[in-house]
Amino acid sequence: MDGNSESRHGMWSSRWMFVLAAAGSAVGLGNLWRFPYITGENGGGAFVLIYLACIALVGIPIMMAEVLIGRQGRQSPVNSMLTLTQQHHRDSSWVLVGWMGVLAGFLILSFYAVIAGWALKYIFSLASGAFAGASGEHATKAFEEFLASPWEMIFWHSLFMVFVIFIIARGVASGLETAVRWFMPLLFVLLAVLVGYGVTSGGFAQGVDFMFAFEWSKVTDTALYEALGHAFFTLSLGMGAIMAYGAYVPSAVSITGTVVTIAVLDTLVALAAGLAIFPVVFANGLEPAQGPGLMFVTIPLAFGHLPLGALFGTLFFILVSFAAITSAISLTEPALAYLVEQHNVKRSRAAIGIGLACWLLGIGTVLSFNEWSDVHLLGEKNFFDVLDYFTQNILLPLGGLFIALFAAWALPKAVTKHQLGLKTAWQENGWLLLAGVVAPLGVLTVFLVTLIGIDNIRNWLS
Ligand code: TRP
Repeated sequence: MDGNSESRHGMWSSRWMFVLAAAGSAVGLGNLWRFPYITGENGGGAFVLIYLACIALVGIPIMMAEVLIGRQGRQSPVNSMLTLTQQHHRDSSWVLVGWMGVLAGFLILSFYAVIAGWALKYIFSLASGAFAGASGEHATKAFEEFLASPWEMIFWHSLFMVFVIFIIARGVASGLETAVRWFMPLLFVLLAVLVGYGVTSGGFAQGVDFMFAFEWSKVTDTALYEALGHAFFTLSLGMGAIMAYGAYVPSAVSITGTVVTIAVLDTLVALAAGLAIFPVVFANGLEPAQGPGLMFVTIPLAFGHLPLGALFGTLFFILVSFAAITSAISLTEPALAYLVEQHNVKRSRAAIGIGLACWLLGIGTVLSFNEWSDVHLLGEKNFFDVLDYFTQNILLPLGGLFIALFAAWALPKAVTKHQLGLKTAWQENGWLLLAGVVAPLGVLTVFLVTLIGIDNIRNWLS
């Protein structure tokens, strides 16, 4: 009944290695860079709580679905879906989910690498001591000047892509596992230091209030929609990254416990990033809704006022870059594993091909911050905004929706029971309720509410 018991691409050596790899994929720019800035743009409180609800009710069931499909199929997402639909005589169009994921991963990596390039650049800015005692104005200006020079951005973006290609070409082997084992705890420690700084900065109460005070009036269409999209993004869901990693999970590992651990780790890092950043925003009279530059302005500012700030600031951006690399490689895994399986391409060749194509598309994102910043493709959205929106808010939720439906309703019950180790009728119904009803309805409701408009709904209610 089990698919194959091993994947041809290799296996994680233990449960803990899978947790580290999946957490390495989940924890990244999404937590440290994207979460704080979209929280800022969406007014805080209500957004954060909706996001937490999305993680618990939608994210966790869908992550379980991805791991179980991957482990049952033991191949790239496209081929796992293909094999499972054939084996169980289901409609072959389910395989489109795999292809959508390949596309989403490709598009996301194209801009992800650009932002990760910013983090690389900031390793050197911090190391040079450029932010010692800096004012908010100074930190803002430094960032704006950097954004204004496309060549400099392309340089760092290219460097990041070279690192990614290098690592994925060699396979997701022990080097990565070791790196993750060290950097995750270190990241926690440094974030704790930064939260500590936040506590003493004078803006802490305001920061906490901003992040957690729920006001119904702050629930907007965009907050709802962004929170859902971000839940997918931050947990690496909806495009098969976790499904691909799931294919390498040993059969004896419990999926539920592992998935909950990963989601909790990821959420803790995001909340810590918020608690490190917003106090600095308020203590320095900065704008919480300033957009993508938020982390790159506040964190250097905080370190500029801490003892040994240049040293720890450098270390911090090294960790951010690491977090970005372990996420970036998971974005390529579905496409890479597919090319290797289907066309017998050497892993290294496939890596270079995918990397170069992403790099090229990434130049569009680089230009969105300078030369093309006023080129609006869709409403007010420029090239980067459109990519960001289309992937997070459409491709990932749709992918996740179908993944959940497939795992809950299309796969034979015996398969899911076996994979998840469900013993009682209670457990089985609980799973069906969450993955088959709550998570899909959650995604559909958000789509629908956004379409109708929350203001209209408020009017009907009142
Ligand atoms: N989760 C990562 C982050 O928060 C980004 C990421 C990695 C991702 N793999 C993914 C996002 C797959 C969506 C899908 O930075």
